Amino acid sequence: MKILGIETSCDETAASVVEDGTKLLSNIIASQIDIHAQYGGVVPEIAARSHIEVMLPVVEKALTEAKTNWDNIDAIAVTQGPGLVGSLLIGVLTASTLAHLKNKPLIPINHVEAHVYANFLNEPAPLFPLLALIVSGGHTQLALFQDHENYELLGQTQDDAAGEAFDKVAKVIGLGYPGGPSVARAAEQGSDTAFVYTKPKTANPLDFSFSGLKTGVLRETQKLVGGDYTMLSSQIPALLSDNQRADIAASFQKTVVTILCDHLLAAYKQYRPRSVVIAGGVAANQELRRVLKLRLPVEITYAPISLCTDNAAMIASCAFYQRDRGVDLRKSPIQPMPVLSM
Ligand code: KG4
Ligand code: ZN
Repeated sequence: MKILGIETSCDETAASVVEDGTKLLSNIIASQIDIHAQYGGVVPEIAARSHIEVMLPVVEKALTEAKTNWDNIDAIAVTQGPGLVGSLLIGVLTASTLAHLKNKPLIPINHVEAHVYANFLNEPAPLFPLLALIVSGGHTQLALFQDHENYELLGQTQDDAAGEAFDKVAKVIGLGYPGGPSVARAAEQGSDTAFVYTKPKTANPLDFSFSGLKTGVLRETQKLVGGDYTMLSSQIPALLSDNQRADIAASFQKTVVTILCDHLLAAYKQYRPRSVVIAGGVAANQELRRVLKLRLPVEITYAPISLCTDNAAMIASCAFYQRDRGVDLRKSPIQPMPVLSM
């Protein structure tokens, strides 16, 4: 069964063809990073407009690269949410219209759930019960999957997501967007013991909280550049040396990695799953992978970096396992499904 996946929840316009949930036939991603980098973050209106411009060529390219055509596509899957409303709308409208025109069932997919399915594009597939740490720019969750579509949320962030904390700290110390890769790069040159940031406590020990850590980094950095706590964060980068930037990046990254590892290890000990996967943009972090390998008594499954960050292959893979939820639009008037925002 070949599924065309479409993903536009944030700033990547993506389409992919996946066979039987596991075989990646094409994976096209048009990134808007260069456009948003000049603003230091994603500008929702610009993201939506950029999706419109490249959506159809990206779909065409996904079919061509998969050496297939519409006759051989069995269903269309699309990210229904969560995400930026304007961005989601472009993908959902495109997918709904194509499903009508090409007579295909339409499968709505939850973006956060789909991140886990990047790990099903690897052979062998991870076994159930499966413990997943989903760490992206919008979400930080620990989930225990007994089977496809049957999962329990063990913990989640009470405020910022892990990726969001990377992005915000990067901005404070004057590193580029997206923050995750630029903080990780700077951290390679720094000392991870230069600063000690407080780890948050949550009522549920498997929940997360990153906003205090982000503020902690801001305060420590203000102290470092003169102790003026009313200083605007936009004034800080010019006062930092490259060494200080690297030390802050390394110490911050170490704190986040420790928090994520502590939580994953605690959940592993409590639930003893048959496999453990990490997913989402922050799962691309090499330090996280290195420390998890040292600390967890089982092998961790993670996808190649291009499948950790947003892509449509994970949408198409997830849809294969949720194909019974496909909606037949043939008899209904063209009307997109509602989008689900953050
Ligand atoms: O999953 P994703 O592509 O989009 C969302 O669903 O949010 O995740 C994007 C997030 C961004 O916050 C980005 O800074 C972070 O993932 N990220 C990383 C790395 N690569 C991307 N964080 C830490 N280390 C990385 N190497
Ligand atoms: Zn994502």
